[in-house]
Amino acid sequence: MSAFDVISTYSPEQFPEHVAIIMDGNGRWAQAQGKPRAYGHKVGVESVRNAVRYCQKFNIKALTVFAFSSENWNRPAAEVTMLMELFMLVLKKEVKVLHQNNVKLRVIGQISGFSSRLQKQIAKAEALTEHNTGLVFNVAANYGGRWDITQAAKKLAEKVIANQINIDDINETTLNSETSVAELPELDLLIRTGGEHRISNFLLWQAAYAELYFAEEYWPDFNDEAFSKAIMCFANRDRRFGMTGEQVESK
Ligand code: IPE
Ligand code: IPE
Ligand code: MG
Repeated sequence: MSAFDVISTYSPEQFPEHVAIIMDGNGRWAQAQGKPRAYGHKVGVESVRNAVRYCQKFNIKALTVFAFSSENWNRPAAEVTMLMELFMLVLKKEVKVLHQNNVKLRVIGQISGFSSRLQKQIAKAEALTEHNTGLVFNVAANYGGRWDITQAAKKLAEKVIANQINIDDINETTLNSETSVAELPELDLLIRTGGEHRISNFLLWQAAYAELYFAEEYWPDFNDEAFSKAIMCFANRDRRFGMTGEQVESK
């Protein structure tokens, strides 16, 4: 029986509500075939499309993918330009289908770092899908976990200065509410493909109690079967949130 078949027998409460993916390994995937890194990024888009469909199929509420980190600007200029062009093209092309499928698309990250052309395209895509009630699909672009926490702190500081809140109103709940994915369910499962075991400045705040799963597959190879293995692993984890095993069992 394939992992996908096993998953298909699961009840809804066995699934994570919010999944995040560090989509890593596009470059190595392409290079292993003697192709340029750009080819890997292009084929990687297929895997994104597939992951969205997968989440819809199993009624997962939110999917957050890491598409471009705040550190990825340090790559060779040609690769950065290629990734920006690809992002633009994919946004333009895919948003209609996402909308038809009731997906709410959001781009999280420091959007002001993008060209005005790309910023407009992002705003358009978000506006079109704003009222959709299905899967929330967050694309993290020019995103950094440290940036997210810092910008949330800054917003709270501004509120204190404007006398909207007191300094004592700054707590984990109010800080959380200013982060990029505030209104979504807590992050349950964080997947990284491509074999590396690190967070690379992704959802630092939100990963506090997420289950971590590292897949060996490069992102273009991350298919339904690989996703199902991650979900299976998640479903078999004991999430204790600081309590003892006995406490969790008696709940
Ligand atoms: C992830 O794949 C995609 C982005 C960071 C944009 P990589 O481009 O990091 O691929 P590898 O890790 O070099 O193989
Ligand atoms: C993380 O991958 C960022 C994205 C997947 C967008 P990287 O390939 O940039 O991470 P490092 O450099 O190996 O840590
Ligand atoms: Mg990488």
